Amino acid sequence: MSNDLKYIFSSFKGKEEELIPILQKVQKTKGFLSDDSMEEIARFTKAPMSKVFGVATFYAQFKFKPVGEKHIMCCRGTACHVKGATRIQEEIENQLGIKEGETSGDMKHSLEDVACIGACGLAPCIMINEEVKGRLTPKMVNKLFEEKDRGNQDVK
Ligand code: FES
Repeated sequence: MSNDLKYIFSSFKGKEEELIPILQKVQKTKGFLSDDSMEEIARFTKAPMSKVFGVATFYAQFKFKPVGEKHIMCCRGTACHVKGATRIQEEIENQLGIKEGETSGDMKHSLEDVACIGACGLAPCIMINEEVKGRLTPKMVNKLFEEKDRGNQDVK
């Protein structure tokens, strides 16, 4: 078992009801949930692998393959759709050279469609890691990633 997992497990009792917080911590540390990590979690919590997998796949927050440094979630909910989410997504895809579900070769960006992210008043919007970017236009998207790629992390 990796030292990362040993460290994470040390703050839990090893019970099945701790599955969600354990999965969250493992993902936060490792960036995604590998099969190996989930097997170790199953062993630690004494839960069947099917249960660990079932819980992890139920929640959209969990990822099963590595994501980019900037994980971009493009909202495809109704409010965002009506306000032009398709054009926003196309602009992101053009700008970064990746399609929905892909990660760039340099692991800097990954793009994923999600249902409503709970910021409908800001439609159309995206999330970059934990941060919501709202009322977007294709022009703003262009600027957002141009400036991010130049290393300016404070673009709002
Ligand atoms: S539909 Fe996009 S935030 Fe709700």
